[in-house]
Amino acid sequence: MEIIVTHTNTDFDALASLILAAKLYPEAQLVLPGSCERNVRDFLTQYPHGFNIKKSKHINLNKVTKLILVETRQPTRVGKFATLTDGKIPIHIYDHHPTQEGDVEGELMEVKEIGATVSIILEKIREQNLTISPLEATIAALGIYEDTGSLTFSTTTSSDISAVAYLISCGADLKVIARFLEKELTVDQIFILNDLFHSLQVHQIDDIEVVIAKVVIDKYVGDLSVLAHKIIDMKSLEVLFCIIGMEEKVYLIARSRTNKVDVGDILALIGGGGHKNAASATIRELSIEEVEKKLLEILHIKLATTKEVTTPPFHLFPRNIKQLMGKNLLIPIQNILKLVGEVGDRLKVNVYVVGGFVRDLLLGKATFDIDIVVEGDGIEFAKKLTEKTSGYYKSHERFKTANVVFPNGFKIDIASTRQEVYEHPAALPNVATGGIYADILRRDFTINAMAIQLNAVHYGELVDFVEGEKDLKEGFIRVLHDKSFIDDPTRIFRAIRFTSRHDFSLTLHTKELIIKSATKDLFSRLANQRIRDELVLILNDDNPAEAILQLQEFGILKYVHPSLQFGEKESLLFKKIAHTFFYFELIIGHKPLEKWLIYLLALIDKLSKEEALKFMQHLKFTKLQQKTVIKDKECSQVLTDFLKTHKRPSPADLYQHLIGVPLEVLVFIMAKVETLENEEIASQIKKQIVFFLTELVNVKVSITGEDIKKLGLKPGPIYKEVLDKVLAAKLNGKLRSKKDELKYVSEMNKKKSRDGSFSGNFL
Ligand code: CTP
Repeated sequence: MEIIVTHTNTDFDALASLILAAKLYPEAQLVLPGSCERNVRDFLTQYPHGFNIKKSKHINLNKVTKLILVETRQPTRVGKFATLTDGKIPIHIYDHHPTQEGDVEGELMEVKEIGATVSIILEKIREQNLTISPLEATIAALGIYEDTGSLTFSTTTSSDISAVAYLISCGADLKVIARFLEKELTVDQIFILNDLFHSLQVHQIDDIEVVIAKVVIDKYVGDLSVLAHKIIDMKSLEVLFCIIGMEEKVYLIARSRTNKVDVGDILALIGGGGHKNAASATIRELSIEEVEKKLLEILHIKLATTKEVTTPPFHLFPRNIKQLMGKNLLIPIQNILKLVGEVGDRLKVNVYVVGGFVRDLLLGKATFDIDIVVEGDGIEFAKKLTEKTSGYYKSHERFKTANVVFPNGFKIDIASTRQEVYEHPAALPNVATGGIYADILRRDFTINAMAIQLNAVHYGELVDFVEGEKDLKEGFIRVLHDKSFIDDPTRIFRAIRFTSRHDFSLTLHTKELIIKSATKDLFSRLANQRIRDELVLILNDDNPAEAILQLQEFGILKYVHPSLQFGEKESLLFKKIAHTFFYFELIIGHKPLEKWLIYLLALIDKLSKEEALKFMQHLKFTKLQQKTVIKDKECSQVLTDFLKTHKRPSPADLYQHLIGVPLEVLVFIMAKVETLENEEIASQIKKQIVFFLTELVNVKVSITGEDIKKLGLKPGPIYKEVLDKVLAAKLNGKLRSKKDELKYVSEMNKKKSRDGSFSGNFL
């Protein structure tokens, strides 16, 4: 049996493609793999005998000999028929979606990026001189009208327009089309629409206004895509994302009316699909806030790249990137760069901003680390710059570098162009002067070896001798010369950190060089504190789990310390920590956390206190850091034991145990318990910590020492005892107002008069 299948959540283009494909495959059975959009359902109820379409449950997969897929080639969108895409039977495909990862390959592929799939099928029908009925013409026209926004979307092509003209000549009924295109809303949908309207938030990303609307619904409501249509129309928006939380899933519906934003492409990165103008995704593992955060991250990356990609490839990052600087840099940063250029002009020296700053600017990331290189004397330059800004500077004669500090505390680094000559591998460099070319060639990787000139006449000119922007675009970490890692072995850590941070790859040659140079001998020459600094940078960076795993795979982790191992347990713990960060921020908002410390606790979790101390001493962590980490390690153990054994401590008891515990320890505990097998205990412990952070930590006593004094108690250490007891009673919900607190103290006082102390059980 041949079958024709389209996608679930069937819309008019899908239905029309299904019905018209039957003209090309008269023997085939039409099948709907799942649910349909509401207006399609309504249409099918009105024409119950019009088409012979079966539901998926009536199809025996074993009997299928050929699969014809229309309006999709994503296996995830065809329900149980995905199992037929394993290459065992022939597949024909008709689809207008852009290519996506995971697409099915067919032996016949009619794939074109045009307004509607049914237009592709109609071309074939016309080539074969097949006839279509007025009802079929109506449904086909409905499909085209719907998918092209009545021929207004930018994906509309002349084939779609000519298809509609032909369909009308075949008797397509425009009245029916108008009726079904106008989607009336249900009461539930109207309420949701209202909530979505109230939640609209505009994000200016580059030169594009992206609008995000969010809502959580407590019951299932179908056909939410129509709401996105309504909002984008009523508000005349260009790009809209609706994030809807419903029944433990998050639905993401996107619409775009600009060529600059391909929502199909964007949602593909979050597990969804669709095309340029309309796309959707269903996400199970993330919360609505996590989805929004992820979406914004993707948008910032995608929209920056999209803009660049639309220019011819050779000018991927235009030679003069003044405009990009104007758009992506904060005004104070731009002002500093211009001032640096002016001072350069005055001293008649070329000045550049270099390294990570340029890389991050081209990646569209906010960046504040300004490294300036002067083709001349950097210290002299720092002096002149300071005169102009009334800040101050510190110079390092040996390295010919300086730090300039502005009156508001903002710092920039100044260096003289130099060629570094290393006395022996892993030593600090000797400095000899050279031009910007030499300065660039001494750097670690091509993506970090770009500069932008700042002198007025050349302001914004990108200096890129090493095709750094190409590697940045293609996602490669590439050394500039073969001795790079021998000169500076910390670059091995940096290479791994950058690949993990950006999900980049090492070029084959760079990888080989790491394997060759990462020897015991090389690392033993490297000062331990430099290894420590690199480890902390890795643990503070975006994807420490991946970086530590790579260190282990390259056999380098043992040089950090022989006791370290990154097995399944540690890897899971790292993952849980990353997840807890999101969760934590959600509960208590953004708090500055020492990320490295939390990951370090995870890394040394298996070690005993003594082994952990030895590890920290070996890596030359400061005494204070050693003390903090060991204390936190012990505290996390003691607290976890307490929380495990006390299922329902009184709020006051919980407060007493958790108050003053660093947030890093709480994050660590929450992540660690998630790796415990017993989910119930994990959830109980997490709930207690969340309860403490959201409810208890902010409880304050209303009365003051003055109030106690008025009650006749003599000032002294006893005041603290009284206030602690009041707080405990308040935490336990016994005191609601200041009056209650005063009454409580006065009763304590009376009791004290009776038994001469406060140690009686008042709580
Ligand atoms: N650099 C190098 N070799 C190193 C360290 C740094 O060549 N071992 C060069 C790179 O050109 C780098 C620049 O110095 O871009 C600045 O280094 P740094 O501020 O440490 O790092 P960034 O590249 O800015 O990276 P991050 O975003 O992690 O700060």
